[in-house]
Amino acid sequence: MQATKTVDARRIKLIRDNLGLTVDQLQALLDNAGLPMGRGTITKMRKTYREEVGYDPTCRPKEAEARQATRTREIDIPQPSPISGGIDIPESLAKPYTRVVIDDSGRWVVLSDVHLPHHDVATVRAAVRIAKDKNANLLLNGDILDCPELSDHERHKDDVKFKTEIEMGRHFFEWIRSQLPKARIIYKEGNHEERLPRYLARNAPAIEHFVSMPDLLEIEDHGIEWVDNRRIAMLGSLPVLHGHEYKGSGGLKPAKWLYDKTASSALCGHFHRTDTHYKRGLMPDFHGVYTLGCACFLHPYYFRLNEWNHGFAEVEISGSGSVHVDNHRLRNGEII
Ligand SMILES: [Fe+2]
Ligand SMILES: [Fe+2]
Repeated sequence: MQATKTVDARRIKLIRDNLGLTVDQLQALLDNAGLPMGRGTITKMRKTYREEVGYDPTCRPKEAEARQATRTREIDIPQPSPISGGIDIPESLAKPYTRVVIDDSGRWVVLSDVHLPHHDVATVRAAVRIAKDKNANLLLNGDILDCPELSDHERHKDDVKFKTEIEMGRHFFEWIRSQLPKARIIYKEGNHEERLPRYLARNAPAIEHFVSMPDLLEIEDHGIEWVDNRRIAMLGSLPVLHGHEYKGSGGLKPAKWLYDKTASSALCGHFHRTDTHYKRGLMPDFHGVYTLGCACFLHPYYFRLNEWNHGFAEVEISGSGSVHVDNHRLRNGEII
């Protein structure tokens, strides 16, 4: 009990001492300190403490100073040890790769690959309607935006401008929240959202720390939590990936392909194909692996003929953390 209080006090101090930072930066700071916290909680605590001290977010010099503090840190230069007479090994700069644990028991709808502005309205409506009817939470599992203007690939004359896409995204998240006012909504970054940091790294590295997809989409205003850095989201005991965390195209049987990579139960989007693979090994463990259909137009100009299908999943987390998955395949907005 005492240990928990100490950790909480450390979290509070870190947030109070860095009120000028963005939520992303605070989360990174907490992660680095071994004190992971969810974005929603960080947002609420930052808001409370800012109000307490009358913090003015427009006070740029303070904010810049605070940001600078997180971008640089002092690293001890190896010094001769008085005991051994040698020098010590340099400190590792490796940052922990953490998982996001979502242990709210109950039902979750997992919707992947919407690819705004080429979304399939009927599929999106069907997924959100089920979430609404069953009081489910919503996990948006990557590629919700398409971002063609930021892509490495060749452009098409009809590609939508990034500015327009962001405006459509804001409209989309506003609509989602209006449909699911009380749901927990989590948005995990896919490879198409990653086009923004990659574009900035290539073309505008000087501002890459100040521009982020969740800020542009203003999802924080709708209480939507953001998961980036290719972190796995644990829905109870079920690891959820977007699918690009591993290299490869999924082969003929994407769920089997995913099982060969993970050797565990798992769920992902990315391949735009509904597929399921079950495996019982020598030990009594039973693995269920699921790849999800998409919620986008099935015949984009860059891949007219393919084996994609529409779909989404429902995941029920029991009190013990075990899960039951319904992997839905849709045609014309109807589950088949
Ligand atoms: Fe996708
Ligand atoms: Fe993807």
